[in-house]
Amino acid sequence: MPEIDPDDAPGALPNLWRVFNLRESPYFQETLGSGHRSYPLSLFVGRAAETRHILATIGGSRSSRQAIGGPTGVGKTTLVQSVKAAAITAGYWASDELVPFYETDTTEHILGRLLGALYDTILAARPKASHHAAMDAAQQLVRVARLTTAGGVSVSILGVGGGVSKGTTPITPSGAMLLDGPRVIRDLLDLVHEAGARGVVLHLNNLENLTERAADRAADILRSLRDPVLMLDGLHVLLVGTTAAVATATGAHAQVRSVFPTTLTLEAMPIRDVQAMLAARYTYLTIEGRKLVPPIAHDAVATLYPLFRGDLRSLLTALEDGARLLVGVAKLGASIGLDELRVALRQRYDAILRTRLDARRQAQLDAWVQQGGPSGYRTQKSLRPIWGVSQGAISNALADLERQGYVVALAREGKEPIRYVLTGMARLVFG
Ligand SMILES: Nc1ncnc2c1ncn2[C@@H]1O[C@H](COP(=O)(O)OP(=O)(O)OP(=O)(O)O)[C@@H](O)[C@H]1O
Ligand SMILES: [Mg+2]
Repeated sequence: MPEIDPDDAPGALPNLWRVFNLRESPYFQETLGSGHRSYPLSLFVGRAAETRHILATIGGSRSSRQAIGGPTGVGKTTLVQSVKAAAITAGYWASDELVPFYETDTTEHILGRLLGALYDTILAARPKASHHAAMDAAQQLVRVARLTTAGGVSVSILGVGGGVSKGTTPITPSGAMLLDGPRVIRDLLDLVHEAGARGVVLHLNNLENLTERAADRAADILRSLRDPVLMLDGLHVLLVGTTAAVATATGAHAQVRSVFPTTLTLEAMPIRDVQAMLAARYTYLTIEGRKLVPPIAHDAVATLYPLFRGDLRSLLTALEDGARLLVGVAKLGASIGLDELRVALRQRYDAILRTRLDARRQAQLDAWVQQGGPSGYRTQKSLRPIWGVSQGAISNALADLERQGYVVALAREGKEPIRYVLTGMARLVFG
């Protein structure tokens, strides 16, 4: 049956991507296979060695913990989405849900979220399991976790703690979680085992959003959950975040380090995989029966990609911005080339930079580029004579420029000082 194209409906808004015979933007930045209306994992490419490695670790023992680190936007979350799908094929249970870490999290929060994710995963795999006693107990705790705000109880859940735990003192919701959570998780894992599944894969994500202090707290939380939860039979935990956050969370305490022995660090995808990723998206989104037209030419992608140092999300954003800016002037049925793309992006990102950064930060970036060009790296020490400010002002400025997306810190190598480089967006502005 031919699909009805919503754009053909009377009164539909113009969709610029149709100029390229596409249903929608092929440069979306969402993670594959998660979220309400997600893009399918069939668009996943490459990362074969990493996938094999993670799956082999899961398959190699009855309980495992792996840390997956890498720079922003390099494809960490998408890789783990794909790994979970493969694990499901191999007889494990997993869901597309990610367990996030937030700044203000405590052990109870993480425990509650892990329990919730486990509960949802079982429910999705075996809807009938909801009648099981362990699921019943879990449901009560999950309710507590989900209906309780950071400051206390937000919805009437009185009696729940008492129902789950047989204590004599009144039990606060978080107390109930700490007291009963680990046992309930254990019971759930028994249930998983009895149902014939090989185990459950849980995905802790978003460590990248944590400040250094919060990453330290994540380390404490992991330590306190190690024996009661993380080591349980049948549980396979994947911990995902930027290299630095993962290193702090798993490296701060010897007890955690020993159970997350190595971190898999994702390197930038090779350019041929990036081209394959885009080709898959073009094919998937091209309107049926029409000719495939890449909005941005292949060689333009190949030239831009290195500027982003593996950050696929920022590359995709730039391609999307460029295509939107130039669609009106693009020749029908032809791709946008590097020269026009560069000019358009430079203008646009320059305008954004000039409005987002105050005069002092702009001057600092200008000085950075004037002294030795846009592509080299800097250390805090080498910036000192260039900027002529104090050590404290330098680290503030770098933190600010990082937050605003103009500078990234490269992964630290041994005892070397941290090296900073301009991001793709800044490189486009400064040529
Ligand atoms: N192997 C891959 N195959 C196809 N698309 C990919 C692949 N890896 C990443 N992508 C795409 O690149 C973009 C960034 O990926 P992802 O969100 O996984 O990065 P991340 O490292 O988790 O980013 P962040 O640091 O922001 O959390 C997404 O749009 C995703 O769909
Ligand atoms: Mg991510």
